[in-house]
Amino acid sequence: MKTLILFSTRDGQTREIASYLASELKELGLYADVVNLNRTPDIAWENYERVVIGASIRYGHYHPALNDFVKKHLQQLNARPSAFYSVNLVARKPEKSSPQTNSYTRKFLLSSPWQPDHCAVFAGALRYPHYRWYDRLMIQLIMKMTGGETDSSKEVVYTDWQQVAVFAREIAQLKRTLAD
Ligand SMILES: Cc1cc2nc3c(=O)[nH]c(=O)nc-3n(C[C@H](O)[C@H](O)[C@H](O)COP(=O)(O)O)c2cc1C
Repeated sequence: MKTLILFSTRDGQTREIASYLASELKELGLYADVVNLNRTPDIAWENYERVVIGASIRYGHYHPALNDFVKKHLQQLNARPSAFYSVNLVARKPEKSSPQTNSYTRKFLLSSPWQPDHCAVFAGALRYPHYRWYDRLMIQLIMKMTGGETDSSKEVVYTDWQQVAVFAREIAQLKRTLAD
């Protein structure tokens, strides 16, 4: 039995975190499949003992595919230990980096019919050179207002990989706790 790690990404950071989680789980002797949530025609749920979903924020929202997926697979999600992680730039601020203090995560948990057993919030990445001019301008504006990086030639990864490793250990623990 394996762990299913689903990710919803726009620029790749949530996928990178998913892959990192999978490699950390492997270190703990647990195997995982990493799958794009937007490309899941059929999931062989019987192969998975645990499920993790990660999703990023763009202009205040998760991709609509996240809620569609949750609705469609609610029964399967609730039938096994599960975890959720949110990826956004607001979370680079310590006071906005917990599921309770990160508004995107709090709102998701309040409105979602799926209630994951465990939850984390990770700071994402800022990749100005990859953005279209409009997005670059908007992000620059937001960064200016919130005291972040405004140099549009820069790429900054704010993700704390140690924090991701801790989350992996918590996911592994979750299984053991429920299986005990
Ligand atoms: C166009 C755009 C809009 C964004 N909007 C927000 C936002 O509203 N709030 C926030 O905290 N982060 C925002 N971000 C930051 C992303 O959440 C961050 O870059 C994250 O790493 C993206 O993850 P992904 O590469 O998996 O899509 C935005 C990024 C872009 C490019």
